[in-house]
Amino acid sequence: MGIPLPVRSLGLFLALTAVVPCHGKITVYHANQAAFTTASAVPAAQYSGVQAYSPVTLTPPPVPSPAIASAIPVQLQNAGTIGMSIPQPGSFMGFSVEMSVTNQVFGKNSTQLQVPFLNLMANLQQRSGGVRIRVGGNTQESAKLVDSLHNNRILQKNLTGIFGTTDTPPLDYTRDLLYMMANVSALVNVRWFLGVPWFVTKPFDLAIVGASQEILGDYLLGLQCANEPDMYVGHKHRTDPYTPYDYGGEMSDFLTQLAASGLDVTGRAKQLLIGPNIANSQPAWAPEQIWNTGFVDTYSENLAYLAVEKYPTSNCGAVYHDGEAILDPQATFPEFLSHTAHVQLLAPYLNSTRYAQSKGKQFLMMETNSAACGGIGGISDVYGGALWGLDYALQLAHSNFSGGMFHTGGQHVFYNPFIAPPTAQSTFRQWSIGPLYYAALAMAEAMGKSNLTQVLDLKIASPYTPMYALYENGTPVRVAAFNYVDDPTGASDITAVVSIAGGTLPSQVKVKYLAASSVSQKGNYTWAGQTFGGFFESDGRPMGTEDIQSVSCDTTAQTCSVKVPAPGFALIFLTGAVYSENEPDAVLTFATTARTHTQNTATVDPAVLATSNGHNGAVDGLGSTSRGGDKNAGGRIQMHVVLSVLTAGLTMGAALLVR
Ligand SMILES: *[C@@H]1O[C@H](CO)[C@@H](O)[C@H](O)[C@H]1NC(C)=O
Ligand SMILES: *[C@@H]1O[C@H](CO)[C@@H](O)[C@H](O)[C@H]1NC(C)=O
Ligand SMILES: *[C@@H]1O[C@H](CO)[C@@H](O)[C@H](O)[C@H]1NC(C)=O
Ligand SMILES: *[C@@H]1O[C@H](CO)[C@@H](O)[C@H](O)[C@H]1NC(C)=O
Ligand SMILES: *[C@@H]1O[C@H](CO)[C@@H](O)[C@H](O)[C@H]1NC(C)=O
Ligand SMILES: *[C@@H]1O[C@H](CO)[C@@H](O)[C@H](O)[C@H]1NC(C)=O
Ligand SMILES: *[C@@H]1O[C@H](CO)[C@@H](O)[C@H](O)[C@H]1NC(C)=O
Repeated sequence: MGIPLPVRSLGLFLALTAVVPCHGKITVYHANQAAFTTASAVPAAQYSGVQAYSPVTLTPPPVPSPAIASAIPVQLQNAGTIGMSIPQPGSFMGFSVEMSVTNQVFGKNSTQLQVPFLNLMANLQQRSGGVRIRVGGNTQESAKLVDSLHNNRILQKNLTGIFGTTDTPPLDYTRDLLYMMANVSALVNVRWFLGVPWFVTKPFDLAIVGASQEILGDYLLGLQCANEPDMYVGHKHRTDPYTPYDYGGEMSDFLTQLAASGLDVTGRAKQLLIGPNIANSQPAWAPEQIWNTGFVDTYSENLAYLAVEKYPTSNCGAVYHDGEAILDPQATFPEFLSHTAHVQLLAPYLNSTRYAQSKGKQFLMMETNSAACGGIGGISDVYGGALWGLDYALQLAHSNFSGGMFHTGGQHVFYNPFIAPPTAQSTFRQWSIGPLYYAALAMAEAMGKSNLTQVLDLKIASPYTPMYALYENGTPVRVAAFNYVDDPTGASDITAVVSIAGGTLPSQVKVKYLAASSVSQKGNYTWAGQTFGGFFESDGRPMGTEDIQSVSCDTTAQTCSVKVPAPGFALIFLTGAVYSENEPDAVLTFATTARTHTQNTATVDPAVLATSNGHNGAVDGLGSTSRGGDKNAGGRIQMHVVLSVLTAGLTMGAALLVR
């Protein structure tokens, strides 16, 4: 259980005073800096800080015996390949943000966005065309739209209203949360799924439906109806029996009430529903139990997407000591470094993704991550977690899901793709970028911008070296090659030997690596040579020199041999353009107005501004993970944010790079 370190530092933050795509005006303030004890300065054995900055690492699993094959043929066909996925969008892999942490991740409010967050989204947009984010989770269920909150906050946990076994506090929020999301969408191509409260059905609280329609308009992709309704009885939100039929009936009540409310002015909201969002954990419902009620036909005009939520395992026993078996992280680590685990996890959904296709519906993995209840220290937050997440994303695409969302939960979880510092930040305390962001970045390039990419798991026999081919218009364009083995001797490095029957190989291929020295490395992973650093080191832009390798092919043998280190991941570009950071249009520039503390004014330049942080006024009072956060944290974790902004200083024009 983590107790956050006392933090009272503050630093630069950015205020968006007016937002227009690519020409926003941004005001930069500078505040007092104060001491900050780093989490990583504490020896692992004594670490009692928050999970998000845990220094704990595990021993990499042993090198498999017998040794893995060192040359792996990747035999592709130029045309006529069967078994490819449905065409997939560049935005395939997105993020799920627990509603309670939105004011830490996106910004403080609609006029103070987190620039690192914008940068992170822009990186993805440049590679894939757009990003989809789901705002919801357990905290959506009791969220209440209020006119205003104390201190002009946009979000507040009502700690006196805690209920349910996950102790999720009810959440009060204002319309400004939705304006903040709209303002994000005006800057970067982010589109939203939003959760509707579903605990109380008589009557439903429909406020978010009306307000999101009005404020987000076309930026809103879907409204999630219930979060894990199959867990409702277990968590005491419904009385037994509560069945798939009952859930379907509630959908009908919802639509009736929505029609009567007059809130669906355009008539669009009633076509944006997402169901059933079941967790499908034992002893809960199988998707087929929902389909067999006729749910999809009954609500065909209302359902924009079908969706489920699934975590491969659960760390709830360790978090809650609730009797659930406590996972041994070291013993569990190998399960995350094997392709087999992904295939087994998704096999039960293949019938449903086929069914969804037959009904003309898209099927989403609405919320997922490495382990329920915040992930596992030493697994979720290391390089092995990046390989796991990338293989999982590709397997979801191969399995005909139409998208997946990695969950982000706040300071009290291990599995965040990215996270702002615990409270307000200093000039030197920046964001921490987790392995799943790297997975999403590599996935964005694997998918590319066509929205037509088809994914095929090549079913390599060894679970340690999965390979995928990516197609556009039926022709192979890229290969994704993994090596899960951790072997510093180099003896387990592999070579992917690519050939294309019926096609001509180029004389050389380009290769980008997602790299680290070990599956247990924490932070400083590189994608094409660039990194987001370790804890508190990122402004959301890749650092370092981009390294896109060229590998010559054997034109006689008609093969291209690409090395994949142990451990490693290579994205091999057979044809077409390769995204480069050096492209002139790779940088979106926002005109800014800077107001800064005199101390810094002499040397403020665009690069300095670009590395500053959005201010995070939120206090992460409770861990907010899937199925509850840090149960005991409510009373203890009350950090007080001291906002001492020094706005004196000169006003200047500067360019803020949001890329
Ligand atoms: C956002 O927060 C800042 C700082 O507290 C405040 O000046 C600004 O008015 C707020 N914006 C809105 C829309 O409330
Ligand atoms: C791909 O989809 C995104 C939405 O995520 C859209 O903005 C973009 O224009 C599409 N690209 C193409 C080439 O259709
Ligand atoms: C907080 O929750 C309690 C119990 O549900 C409720 O009585 C109270 O009105 C809530 N406070 C706010 C500000 O919503
Ligand atoms: C940003 O939010 C403010 C509300 O504070 C609103 O006035 C403005 O129109 C928003 N901009 C966009 C592009 O939505
Ligand atoms: C697949 O799903 C359909 C629709 O629910 C169901 O009728 C069928 O029995 C399922 N098939 C298998 C093999 O589970
Ligand atoms: C995905 O859908 C395509 C098109 O219907 C199909 O050919 C393929 O077999 C499906 N893949 C899986 C893993 O079910
Ligand atoms: C990342 O690399 C930097 C620079 O080499 C180093 O200072 C930092 O400690 C590293 N962080 C981690 C978490 O390894």
